Amino acid sequence: MDRAFMALTQNSLGYKLTPISIRELLYLDSAPCDVYGIENGLYRPLVKENQEISKDLLKELISQGKIRLFVDRSKRHLLIEKIQDKLTKVTRSLSIGNPVDNGRAQMNLLTVHLEYVYNNTTDDDLLNKHFQFSKSLCSFLLANSDHLEKIYLEYRKQKHHFIFSQPLLASLLLLGVLKNTRMFAAKEMEQLFLTSYLKDIGMSSIPVEKYDDENLSKEDKKSLVLHAENSIEILDGRVPLGPSHMEIIKNHHAFSLLNKELNHDVELDPMSISDDELARPVLVGTETVLICAMDIIAAMVTPRPWRPAEKLFNALDLVRVLISDDFSQEFKVIVSYFKGFKKE
Ligand SMILES: [Fe+2]
Repeated sequence: MDRAFMALTQNSLGYKLTPISIRELLYLDSAPCDVYGIENGLYRPLVKENQEISKDLLKELISQGKIRLFVDRSKRHLLIEKIQDKLTKVTRSLSIGNPVDNGRAQMNLLTVHLEYVYNNTTDDDLLNKHFQFSKSLCSFLLANSDHLEKIYLEYRKQKHHFIFSQPLLASLLLLGVLKNTRMFAAKEMEQLFLTSYLKDIGMSSIPVEKYDDENLSKEDKKSLVLHAENSIEILDGRVPLGPSHMEIIKNHHAFSLLNKELNHDVELDPMSISDDELARPVLVGTETVLICAMDIIAAMVTPRPWRPAEKLFNALDLVRVLISDDFSQEFKVIVSYFKGFKKE
């Protein structure tokens, strides 16, 4: 090819293309549009429109290091719609087959979809659909609560980016604890699941790649600390959650320790928590405490780029230090749920 022509083509592709995640392809049978990668510094079509996406094809791409993928910006929506179609299909067939496989499939797709929501928080259609998909997942999980631990363990293995998996892991654990108390009606559990799941949507104000960076800028750190307020701004009037649930979102970092986690300065040794932190006033109810505690546990037992995963025992011990004085009943309920967990 003429060099000048090739340079022009590459230049125009540079303007036209937008990055996608290879994870989006993992759950699709065929490509809804051409998918490009980079070869020797040049954009090249790697997967053609309508080409079957087989496991072998994905393995080949990964083994060749072709994981930075792109599609034409004007066709980006086709991929999003395909994932949504797949989510609808999986949701409709949840009663057929193995519940653990079904739960894992729906959670994987929902996590891919959450990235679309984080990238377009003002898009009402995306948010509405996400809310409906999450609600369906909650009904399924409640109906299959005997399998929650297995679904939780399977989903953890998928190694999604923690920004997208953390809210779902925390909410799945929450559902298990709520169900175990036998104190909550199904509708209440659903509302609390959705509250817990959407509470961190405000973290979308920072590009996801930055979360892997050890040194966030001062401004980014400030946005992180304010993410609960940002979540309220994004959700208020746009999702059917009541004022009490919005209040829970606002207070979901009532235990300030998690702010340390967000500042990449997590202190996993409970004995090192300062007296100030232990003495701070706590003005929250049972639901908020359970949501906060499950958030802390889910975060601690999964790895971060800057630290390994902690043992469940250590996570529970930290929750004990943080809540057991003021919320002894809640702590008992949490321990009683995790006693049923097999040793990790
Ligand atoms: Fe949060």
